[in-house]
Amino acid sequence: MDVLVTGGAGFIGSNLVELHLSKGDTVYAVDNLSSGSADNISTFKGHKNFHFFNADLLTWKELPEVLAKVDRVYHLAAVLGMFLVLEHPVLTIESNVKTTERLLEILSKMKKRPVLMIASSSEVYGNQTGLLDEDRALVLESTTKNHANYPISKLCNESMGLAFYHELGVPTIIVRLFNTIGKRQSERYGMVVPRFVKQACENQPITIFDDGSQKRSFCDVRDTVNILYSLTGNPRAIGEVINVGNDEFITIKELAEKIKKIANSSSELTYAPYSEVYHGGYIDIHERHIDTKKMQSYVHYEYQWPLAETIAYLVRHHKHV
Ligand SMILES: NC(=O)c1ccc[n+]([C@@H]2O[C@H](COP(=O)([O-])OP(=O)(O)OC[C@H]3O[C@@H](n4cnc5c(N)ncnc54)[C@H](O)[C@@H]3O)[C@@H](O)[C@H]2O)c1
Repeated sequence: MDVLVTGGAGFIGSNLVELHLSKGDTVYAVDNLSSGSADNISTFKGHKNFHFFNADLLTWKELPEVLAKVDRVYHLAAVLGMFLVLEHPVLTIESNVKTTERLLEILSKMKKRPVLMIASSSEVYGNQTGLLDEDRALVLESTTKNHANYPISKLCNESMGLAFYHELGVPTIIVRLFNTIGKRQSERYGMVVPRFVKQACENQPITIFDDGSQKRSFCDVRDTVNILYSLTGNPRAIGEVINVGNDEFITIKELAEKIKKIANSSSELTYAPYSEVYHGGYIDIHERHIDTKKMQSYVHYEYQWPLAETIAYLVRHHKHV
């Protein structure tokens, strides 16, 4: 099959490219290399089935032509990561909304349409506790905080995708990704696991934001892309909103301790208040616990990489052993 991955030089995008190439598919990828990098896709360069476009999705001129060739589109291109979102609120809301709008408008005018998977985020649940299932009412964040631009941009993507599906028949699947971790994730934009792994491997203090009692569930990107692959191939998933992640639930302090132990590190754990780390309107999300029932009803997936194994893999990778 032929697929298009937007944000294909990013963390999740490059892992999806790898998965599809390994299955013998033809992969088109577009990325403006803003938070992604050429390094992420260097191993696929020269592969006969891989076609990379260094372009912004908003203006990429080959987009209609490529959409006409492919069976699936994974729309992952977005501005994300707390540091970027807080520093660039205009780019976040404009780019995240308009890229999705452009895709949907072109697709709605085509006769034969590929399936479009839109990557949303668990951030749309806002600051809520308990198991988060897809039917939960959503809690909007105050727009006076710059942080809000990210979940609101993702909510716009969801509602546009579903509107184009219901009224114009564009076959759209919305996935709400929860924290994803693994190879090629950058620590530059505030992602916790790559940052802790780097600090532990270099025996530097591991900086926990706030008191470390925040809870998250982390999914290895290799599991994530397998799940996205299955969901996007399932016609029953069209028109649905589906959480994607792993429900192994852990506090950030426990995560730091686990990484320290696996890295055999002498790092001390230190604490920094959010006000010292984030500027421009950060909202604390205390816990984010995925309900995977709906996802599992579509994919019946057995996870292959538990958290400890992903961490061990990242530690080996960081230490080049
Ligand atoms: N990583 C996670 O834990 C997580 C959690 C929830 C949701 N998501 C969503 O998954 C998707 C992929 O995230 P990721 O972690 O791989 O992030 P990433 O930053 O590595 O990937 C995003 C990619 O999009 C590219 N990009 C941004 N704007 C673009 C534009 N206008 N045109 C072309 N390319 C553009 C970036 O250069 C980058 O390579 C995003 O939509 C994100 O919101 C990720």
